[in-house]
Amino acid sequence: MHVRIKPGWELAESAATPESVYLNRRTLIKGVAATSILGALPSGCARAEDEEDDDPTADLYPAQPNSQYTVERAITDADVTSRYNNFYEFGSHKKISAAAQALRRRPWTVEIDGMVETPMTVDIDNLIRRMPLEERVYRHRCVEAWSMVIPWSGFPLRTFVEFARPTAGAKYLRMETFHDAEIAPGQRQFWYPWPYVEGLTMAEATNELAFLVTGAYRKPMAKQYGSPLRLAVPWKYGFKHIKSIVKFTFTDERPVSFWEQLAPPEYGFWANVNPDVPHPRWSQATERDIGTDQRIPTRLFNGYGEYVADIYAGIEGERLYM
Ligand code: MTE
Repeated sequence: MHVRIKPGWELAESAATPESVYLNRRTLIKGVAATSILGALPSGCARAEDEEDDDPTADLYPAQPNSQYTVERAITDADVTSRYNNFYEFGSHKKISAAAQALRRRPWTVEIDGMVETPMTVDIDNLIRRMPLEERVYRHRCVEAWSMVIPWSGFPLRTFVEFARPTAGAKYLRMETFHDAEIAPGQRQFWYPWPYVEGLTMAEATNELAFLVTGAYRKPMAKQYGSPLRLAVPWKYGFKHIKSIVKFTFTDERPVSFWEQLAPPEYGFWANVNPDVPHPRWSQATERDIGTDQRIPTRLFNGYGEYVADIYAGIEGERLYM
């Protein structure tokens, strides 16, 4: 039986988020892995940023800014981006920041398996401490036609891939989010194919732009951004930016992502930003900057073509923009 699940992002934004909300607010350890939460954000709820001080890696921030990755648009205020999130594990709407505080960030381990020289499980703090942390300002463009600009901290995915030592036959990197319905009420919604999964080709994963994020706004990232480890691939639509990753699998089979499983014609594997290729039910020509509420033109590869266009040479027959 085919069940058609309608992502919350398909709602008109005015229906999903009241204007007032977005305008007014702003030791390597080896061998070790249909509820609605619609309550409005309680006004007395702790600011998400306050919770980051107890992070065991807090001393690593602020990370050194990498001046190569800046953008011409203003950085979107943290009070806006931390209260306008997609994280279906905590609810199928934008106001999940309060619910996401249930996420337990430690202990947290990351499993590396599949086509690698040595499968292993690493402790997140040891991993973060051995990686070269830096800050990059990236545009973030959701398939839903809104966008933000965020200063992420983290390390190149390429450096992580070198650390993981995939074997020559690996063609793809499959990533998986935690699965714990005790803390994530959305995961009790059995009709979704939990856990959240995303994938990249090895060429994409080793592109210099692909970034594993550990922090935002010069500190460990707030839980709703996908703490303690998420992906940023800024030339692709936001749903590729998998949050709260617990597993990396190197494989020769193309991964089928969460949304691709649900609606293959609408959310494909590649999902590269292209203003000229509309989503089946809406245009992708423009996007709303949620910081300024201005509608601005969308750019091919979200403006990052100089870094990534080469990856797709010779495979133009693929559905690269869906
Ligand atoms: N990762 C997980 N595990 N669960 C999700 O629901 N939503 C995706 C992506 N990563 C999602 C996820 C979507 S649709 C978008 S647009 C971005 O996260 C949103 O990231 P943000 O909340 O930091 O803006």
